[in-house]
Amino acid sequence: MIFAMEHEITGRQLLWETIQQTENYPIFRLTYVSCAVELLTEADLDDIESKSLVANDARDVTGLLIVNGRRILQILEGRESAVLELYEKIRKDPRHVIAKLVSTVEDEGRMLLTWNMVVRDVNSIPADVLRQHNELYDELLNAKEPRIITVDDVDFLKSVALFSALPA
Ligand SMILES: Cc1cc2nc3c(=O)[nH]c(=O)nc-3n(C[C@H](O)[C@H](O)[C@H](O)COP(=O)(O)O)c2cc1C
Repeated sequence: MIFAMEHEITGRQLLWETIQQTENYPIFRLTYVSCAVELLTEADLDDIESKSLVANDARDVTGLLIVNGRRILQILEGRESAVLELYEKIRKDPRHVIAKLVSTVEDEGRMLLTWNMVVRDVNSIPADVLRQHNELYDELLNAKEPRIITVDDVDFLKSVALFSALPA
């Protein structure tokens, strides 16, 4: 047990440490929160997930999408033109209404290296983690100034994604 504790940091770093991956172009990171018009069905989620995997990969756009009931949070990162083009498409999707464009920033590297993290089932997420996630959603929604997504935010969102991947 002590052994495990001693190695906790290393394990966490290996699994989770957000390594900023640089490209030969600046990384544009866009974050928005939206509200589903009606609860997204399994078919909607399958459609979004399969289209995103192909379309985002083709544009070298990585990121994360968390669907928690009607609360939706998405981070998209890549070339500015590719991210904005994709966002224009997503923004017009009648299944949701953008509640707030939280921030757009230029960064040296990616914080999300893949497009594998679509969280669509929050049932296996522990109540306190879900509560923290709802608090973050509300904070982003109500921010008066552009709210820059930090490495800590990304680490937290990744842990939400990890829990959702576990059996309930
Ligand atoms: C919350 C939400 C997030 C979405 N995210 C993406 C995305 O990251 N990439 C993508 O290609 N489509 C995404 N979509 C789907 C697009 O809005 C749209 O349905 C799709 O790009 C249409 O593809 P098509 O023009 O090939 O039919 C999302 C839709 C919703 C409601």
